Amino acid sequence: MTAPTPGRTPATSPDRGGRRNTAILITGAGGEVGHGLISSLHGLGHRNIVALDVKKLRRDQRELCQDSFEGDICDNSLLERLLAMYEITEIYHLAALLSTRAEFTPETAHAVNVGGALNLLRLATEQARSHGERVKFIFPSSIAVYGLPDLETKFRAGAVKEDEYCRPNTMYGCNKLTCENLGRYYADHYRQLAQDRIEGLLDFRSLRFPGLISSETLPSGGTSDFASEMIHAGASGKSYACFVRQDTRIPFMTMPDAIDAMLKLAAAEESKLTRCVYNVGSFNPSAEQIKDQVMRYFPDAEITFEPDLPRQEIVDSWPADVDVSAAKDDWGFAPVHDLSRAFADYLVPRIKARYAE
Ligand code: SER
Repeated sequence: MTAPTPGRTPATSPDRGGRRNTAILITGAGGEVGHGLISSLHGLGHRNIVALDVKKLRRDQRELCQDSFEGDICDNSLLERLLAMYEITEIYHLAALLSTRAEFTPETAHAVNVGGALNLLRLATEQARSHGERVKFIFPSSIAVYGLPDLETKFRAGAVKEDEYCRPNTMYGCNKLTCENLGRYYADHYRQLAQDRIEGLLDFRSLRFPGLISSETLPSGGTSDFASEMIHAGASGKSYACFVRQDTRIPFMTMPDAIDAMLKLAAAEESKLTRCVYNVGSFNPSAEQIKDQVMRYFPDAEITFEPDLPRQEIVDSWPADVDVSAAKDDWGFAPVHDLSRAFADYLVPRIKARYAE
């Protein structure tokens, strides 16, 4: 096995002596994170992005990809087709059903979130076997893997470390925690008793994202969505009833910082990584503090708090903050947006322009 190439995958060569073209595969490519990731990878010079999503990608996004497929990550024949067409060297497996949606159809969520990841992990190892190079597998996990038993413990715990309180109360959290473990298993122990085992087929790296806030898109089906919904409603002149209490506190980060973190972790030197799953997060305002920022820039906004108790309980079980020291020390995690810069430098200018169109 050759060592993985950190960072960039070379752009597709026109003449590969009959070999398949190399590709970076992005699943869930049409979602919030995928949208920004495609633009960033393209901006970095990658011309071999292959996108997969259940819905057809927007044309401007398709144009940044070498190829795009509409389909389900649970559809093995589609994955086999991809495998036949491309030498996949990196996978960003973003496709998932988020936490609120997953509670309405937990078994479907499990099938998509865990079954889909398992298919991709198997595909990655088969790819590595067939082209003889390790496949890098980047997996966004979530603060939903944590489960704080009550508010007192939540506020006493402060910034939780990666190995604390991993006792999720949601199907989505259970799924993400399972996938983190599956990734570690495929990377380090896959078929450990088989005689023909090849070690080190997979280079699995994962980040636990906090709530993500984007100026471009609104999340759908998540429970941290209240922050984005409040901001976009305020900016577009719609009234908004926030579904959590004013004092609700969880960590957040902006989408550009999230994409940057994902690319930094993907490019990090393997010898520097002391773990395969890292907390990331930039600021942890209360819901009231988010409202204050929205009112500062959009004084006519109408925002009320009408907690939805079951959703409130989910958010209450997530940490008030996460300890990101491992990500800082190992691969230089350095988000640029704190709460006020997120609004002043990123969200407000872009959202204003967007709703003025
Ligand atoms: N944003 C996710 C959700 O709310 C949590 O990571 O489901």
